[in-house]
Amino acid sequence: MTDNGAEGLKGLLPREATARLQSLRLTEGRATLVMDATGLAAAERDRLEASARQALQGAPGVAEVRVAMMADKVERRIIAVGSGKGGVGKSTLATNLAVALARQGHKVGLVDADIYGPSQARLLGTEGKRPVAHDQKLVPVASPWGVPVLSMAHLSDPGQAIAWRGPMASGALTQLLEGHWEGAEILVVDLPPGTGDIQLTMMQKFKPAGAVIVSTPQDLALMDAMRAAELFEKGGTPVIGVVENMAGYACPHCGEVSEPFGTGGAEAAARTMGMPFLGRIPLDIAIRRESDAGTPPAAGEGPQAEAFADLARKISDWLGGKADG
Ligand SMILES: Nc1ncnc2c1ncn2[C@@H]1O[C@H](COP(=O)(O)OP(=O)(O)O)[C@@H](O)[C@H]1O
Ligand SMILES: [Mg+2]
Repeated sequence: MTDNGAEGLKGLLPREATARLQSLRLTEGRATLVMDATGLAAAERDRLEASARQALQGAPGVAEVRVAMMADKVERRIIAVGSGKGGVGKSTLATNLAVALARQGHKVGLVDADIYGPSQARLLGTEGKRPVAHDQKLVPVASPWGVPVLSMAHLSDPGQAIAWRGPMASGALTQLLEGHWEGAEILVVDLPPGTGDIQLTMMQKFKPAGAVIVSTPQDLALMDAMRAAELFEKGGTPVIGVVENMAGYACPHCGEVSEPFGTGGAEAAARTMGMPFLGRIPLDIAIRRESDAGTPPAAGEGPQAEAFADLARKISDWLGGKADG
């Protein structure tokens, strides 16, 4: 229902407020404004709200003004990348998944939740950069790959050991996750290995949309991976599926593929647990070399980039399917 009173009030608003006006109603002396505050810093947002309020306060027929500022219309979803143990390539996978998603047109950010052993600054080529704080929140560091990142590596000196206790580590995680991520629709979170405090805080406080479990093909790694998957499910985070990393070794000289850790184990284990298998990433020296150099293989061309792109499409489909119901 449109009423003339509200139409008349619109004319009283300053232009900057009209530009962001979503709705304005006047009922029984109460003017209710909804404005879009997307992308505004807190101070600008407060100023805009105050100017609108001031313009309508005391206008004919208005006894009370209510202003709702709708920010952040983008629904941000968190994809946690976890594993049962370290060294399986979880960080490598998180980086390249994020880069591949960004290449496919998603707005992606990366949070390095491995507080004690951060590696995302190196993997994304952002070593030595420092995030600034704005309104008490960290502003993510831009990377050359279109994926902004926050990592403890940006906040501590290289090589410096971080020996915090659980609660401090959870506090640090919160700082990273509550940074200025307004621009990101997908946040990929690189978790530390295992099933500790960080994983619990992550699930309870930040409610990831889903988790990707990374495992190598060895039996022991697989058992750990299954334990991690169970922890996610119990904590209410759906497991999107399992990725087998370092599967098959392509000899850089003759191209022959060998299977140093066997093959198909992760797929079979995922099936047993009733979880989707998301694919395999080969053990490839180029992946290690490029990762160490801060040039994620997913940003390049060739079979490695294609493997990560394929994974990114599966994750994106999964998110899309969820969004549609
Ligand atoms: N598919 C792969 N092929 C070759 N090297 C890899 C691959 N995945 C990871 N690596 C290397 O293995 C090491 C451990 O990987 P990382 O991502 O740091 O593991 P995690 O985060 O699980 O501890 C790194 O040196 C990384 O470059
Ligand atoms: Mg790691």
